[in-house]
This record gives sequence, structure tokens and C-alpha cells, in this order.
Amino acid sequence: MAIDYSERIPNNVNLADDRRLRRALESWQPRFLQWWSEMGPALPTQDVYLRTAVAVGREGWAHFDHVALPDYRWGIFLAERDTDRRIAFGQHKGRPVWQQVPGEYRADLQRLIVIQGDTEPASVEQQRRLGLTAPSLYDLRNLFQVNVEEGRHLWAMVYLLHAYFGRSGRDEAEALLLRNSGSEDSPRILGAFNEETPDWLSFFMFTYFTDRDGKYQLGTLKESAFDPLSRTCEFMLKEEAHHMFVGTTGVDRVVERAAQLMRDHDSDDIAKYGAIPLDVIQKYINFHYSVSLDLFGGETSTNVANYFTAGLKGRWQEERRGDDHLLTEAVAVVPHVERGQVSDLRLPALTALNADLRGEYAADCLTGVNRWNRILTAHGLDPTLYLPHVGFNRKVGTFAGHHVAPDGRVLDEAVWEAGRDRWLPTAEDKTHVLALMRPVYEPGKIAAWVAPPRNGINGQPFAYEYVHL
Ligand SMILES: [Fe+2]
Ligand SMILES: [Fe+2]
Repeated sequence: MAIDYSERIPNNVNLADDRRLRRALESWQPRFLQWWSEMGPALPTQDVYLRTAVAVGREGWAHFDHVALPDYRWGIFLAERDTDRRIAFGQHKGRPVWQQVPGEYRADLQRLIVIQGDTEPASVEQQRRLGLTAPSLYDLRNLFQVNVEEGRHLWAMVYLLHAYFGRSGRDEAEALLLRNSGSEDSPRILGAFNEETPDWLSFFMFTYFTDRDGKYQLGTLKESAFDPLSRTCEFMLKEEAHHMFVGTTGVDRVVERAAQLMRDHDSDDIAKYGAIPLDVIQKYINFHYSVSLDLFGGETSTNVANYFTAGLKGRWQEERRGDDHLLTEAVAVVPHVERGQVSDLRLPALTALNADLRGEYAADCLTGVNRWNRILTAHGLDPTLYLPHVGFNRKVGTFAGHHVAPDGRVLDEAVWEAGRDRWLPTAEDKTHVLALMRPVYEPGKIAAWVAPPRNGINGQPFAYEYVHL
């Protein structure tokens, strides 16, 4: 399954054999490049040390080189086909997976693909100005790597729309370039993708918390009975691992720097030394975690139950689950607010699948907080970072309309208002963080608010010229 780079659109889906599809995608390509030049990275660069996919197998799929950003070879890469693959869940369980879209599921599958596809270019738009304030060339390179891969994820979804959904798929592919993050008239579909990513702390939080939501959504689509979607998502997940890495180690390094200065000066008040105080880091965690939880939708959803039963969208690691994969009898326990307190509600597991996925995600998020606390402990400090309660600051689902403190207490309006500035970034916090954002473009140098990485990219040293400006 080598990737054909001699084609105008690199691919491993035999595009050369399907002239109609190839022509359709070749006519979408200049529109994508136009979008990239208008909505992609605002910082002009000569070239960037990027990885490009050369194969889709387990080992050695990436090639690293300096590439001019507009010349990046965006393409269509699906994981290898397993000809024996069978549907793992729902009413069609055990039957061979689908290579075409069944008519009765066409609208639902298209909708799922459009929603996933919409998030990919949205994050590029949200991050477009960050290059202007990168803390190092290493970080700048990582930003651009994430950006080109989110662009490729858009290609992945557009390929499916063009190849399998006819006229309406082509129209949706068009519309993916017309909506824009934060636009008044035609915003992106999901709330978190219309929020700004104005500074690098937000970027690290976004790649930790919001890209991780993406990982879990892709994980459910990877289970899909629609095999081309499954194979597309499987390869996207490989690229996504780097985005998680950028977030995890990015926050690591902000915490590390804060901890060093707290220890050196024996004080929590490190803003005056040009760092980000721990309480501000905590507020950014609270914000980004809570808006990312909203991306999982309401706790109960009959749509999602139907998607599961139909085989369109599975659970996280569906095949590792020890149940019947039908969930006709199963019960789930979901938190909700009742008589001024958070309590457990028992529901049919089938309608609570969003909460199931959210639970998997929350457990994964906790691993980051634990490692950030270990950094504090290693500096002789108390491990005080935490994830707020799942009901904190929610706009979607059962907690919307309630005020829940980070510790899970349900609050009245007045107590919430009084606590808010301790829990969520204030205008002053944001101003402080923004004021620290000044570009450092000299190889081997780094901004004062963040520690350097332990390792460079692809075995290169930190001081490597990752980007030529
Ligand atoms: Fe993505
Ligand atoms: Fe991503």
C-alpha cells in the first residue's frame, strides 16, 4: 500500500483508475489551496521541517524534510484493507463490512462525515496567527505540522464525500471551505471550534483537550461498518498521536517552567518573572476541559443509539468490550443534577453512548493531569492540579443551566458568580498570558514562560533550524 506521489493528488486509493473522481477532486484542490493561503498560517516562512506520510503501514510511515508549506503534499491515505473485516456491533453484527453506503444510512453517514470534516479546517483557522508569537522554532514547527495534518484530515473527509455521496457529498465538500471558525454568518458547526486560540497556552490546552476529543470521535468512526470511513479514521488516528504529544508535552513544559521559578523564588507569585502561575494554568485546564466535554453532546441521545444499532458509529475500542455489542438490555449510570445535588441516574446504555465515550475521554485526560502533578512533585511542590467535575461550566447536556463548582457542588447564581474568577481565566489572566507571547525565532533559544523540550523532532537537536523564515 505505497502512496503514489507521482499523481497531482498523492493517494493510495487508485485515484488514477477513477477519472471522474480524480477530476472532481482536482477541481476541489485549487479551492483548498486558496483556503489555505487565506485561512492557513499567517506567518510567512520559507520552509518547515515536516513529516509527510509515505506509507500507511505500522512502521516507518513518515518522511522528514524541509518543505515550503504551500508545497506540502496533501493527499488521500487509507489504512490497509482487511478483506475479512466484519461488523463488530449493532443489528448487522457479524456480517461483512460495507464497501458502499447503504441507501438507508446515506444521510446519517454523510452527516457524521461532515461534522468530523468541519472540525479539521476549523482548528487551522483558530490557530492561524499563533506563528507570529511562537516561543521557539521547535514549537513553530510543531504548530505547522499540526496545521498541515488537520488540512490533510479535511482531504480525508472530502475524499469520502466525493467518492461515496454523489452530488450532495460534493456540495458538502464545497461548504467545508465556506464555513469559517468564529464567522458571524457561517460559523463552524461545533461551539469549541468557534472559540479563539489566541495564545500558546491555549494552543497546548487545545491540542491536549480538544484534539483528544477528536481522537475519541475518530475512534468511534474507526469502528464503523462503512469500511472506507473506518480505514480513513484509522490512518488519521496515527497522525493525531503527534497532536496529542504537542499538547501533553506543551503543558508539561509550561508547568515545568512555573515549578522551577516557584522553587527558585520560593513563591507562587511568578507572573513577575515572566512565567504563568499555576492557578492560571489550572483555570485554562478548567476552561478547555469543560468546552471539550461539550463536544460529546448530550448524555442521552436517540440519534447516537440509532447510529450504534445501525453500525455507523461504535464505542471506543468496541472489540475489546466484553458485552454482547448490541446493548439491548444493558444499563449505564450517568450523573445528573437532582434536588440541588449531583446524583447517579440509571439509563439504557444504548441511549447513554455519548456519556460512555465522554467517560473514556475523561479517564484519558486524567493521565495528563497526573503527569503534570508529578512534575510539581519532582520540584518539591504540592501536586495541586486537577480536572474539574464533569458538570463544571457546561453548555451542553444535563448540566447546562446548572452551576457546578470544580469540586462538584451545585451552586446558586450568587456563589457561582463569586467563585467564577477563581475557576475560569479572567480578562487579567488572559492579558498576562498574551503579554508573554513574543516570538523567539533564533535556533536554540526559547521564551521565558516555557521550558525547552527534552528531545527534538526526529532525532534532531532542539537547536536545529526547524523553520527557515
Ligand atoms: Fe484532525
Ligand atoms: Fe488533530
